[in-house]
Amino acid sequence: MTTADPRLDALQTPALILDEYRMTRNIRRLASHIASKGSSLRPHLKTVKSTDIARRLLTDGTGPATVSTLTEAEVFAEMGVKDIIYAVGITPQKLERVAAIRAKGCDLTVLLDSAEQAQAVAGFSQRSGQAIPALIELDCDGHRSGVAPGDPVLIGIGRILHEGAAELRGVLTHAGESYEVAGEDAHAWLAELERQAAVGSANMLRDAGLPCPVVSIGSTPTAHAVEDLDGVTEVRAGVYAFFDLVQAGIGVCGIDDIALSVLTTVIGHQRDKGWVITDAGWMAMSRDRGTAGQAVDQGYGAVCDEVGQPIEDLIVIKTNQEHGIIARRPGNDAPLPDLPVGSRLRILPNHACAPAAQFQAYNVLPPVPGAPLRTWPRFGGW
Ligand SMILES: Cc1ncc(COP(=O)(O)O)c(C=O)c1O
Repeated sequence: MTTADPRLDALQTPALILDEYRMTRNIRRLASHIASKGSSLRPHLKTVKSTDIARRLLTDGTGPATVSTLTEAEVFAEMGVKDIIYAVGITPQKLERVAAIRAKGCDLTVLLDSAEQAQAVAGFSQRSGQAIPALIELDCDGHRSGVAPGDPVLIGIGRILHEGAAELRGVLTHAGESYEVAGEDAHAWLAELERQAAVGSANMLRDAGLPCPVVSIGSTPTAHAVEDLDGVTEVRAGVYAFFDLVQAGIGVCGIDDIALSVLTTVIGHQRDKGWVITDAGWMAMSRDRGTAGQAVDQGYGAVCDEVGQPIEDLIVIKTNQEHGIIARRPGNDAPLPDLPVGSRLRILPNHACAPAAQFQAYNVLPPVPGAPLRTWPRFGGW
């Protein structure tokens, strides 16, 4: 039998549950670490996509912030955030929207890593009569996009922006490969590589007579492990507010730091197969298998009872659109717990961003025991 939380009784499932106490603890943990290093945090709001949570992440609600879509930029600018980096490479078709957000009083900065993009931004700035600020993206670890550190193309891009009508704001890098390694030492090393790539490139620009006021680095693993922020002006991270099984698997948090879960109801059994079937399939959990390559493979999510207490070696092994199939982890032959039809469970996600995106609202468990649930809307779209 699972332990019940009567506050969840009225919810239809699947439903997204947010533990506010854990979230607040996670937010404070990183804020105080970065403050202790004498730098400032620019939270990435792509995970939360919620104004209620953005207000809790941003020191005074006005920024600075990072976003991954222009819809996020529009919503958070409307909320009063005044300083935003749109941290996905810019395209010419998006510049009108960027200008419209800036016209409302939000200092929105774009990101690019090629001469073509720089020309588009400089050309648009010229035509519109307003200098769009841009950061040059650096690829510090081969993860994704960005100019390789030391590549002279950096100076060429910087000149197109600075000598054109745009504004060269600085450099930005994201150590996405930090998700692939475990342990604080490995993350600290990647944080130092992030720092060296960003500071070295900033100095290259300055040595060429170009401005570089912003030197921006960060990912959740490296932000928590970073030791030296010399030359860096800000650190970005996003998933740290919620954490997830991927972050637990690489040692950035514990399972009991994960603030986000999906509430599901048992809808049936295949007892001969050792399966429990629930109503949280991939439409609720997403198909993210982020822990597949980690030391502990959590399937499509780790199963907890209704109050969020993990049930040993119970994971979601399969998902169909609206069915989740729960079983013991391979190697554990213990009998399944008694989970009659109608029982409630909570599933911890591999990657918080993906299941969160399936829902229109957070059902928030307040930090005060027994206090009623609250509902915080979230948005999607691009
Ligand atoms: C450019 C950029 N900065 C910061 C982050 C935040 O990193 P994390 O998701 O590890 O919190 C991301 C995440 O994808 C990113 O793409």
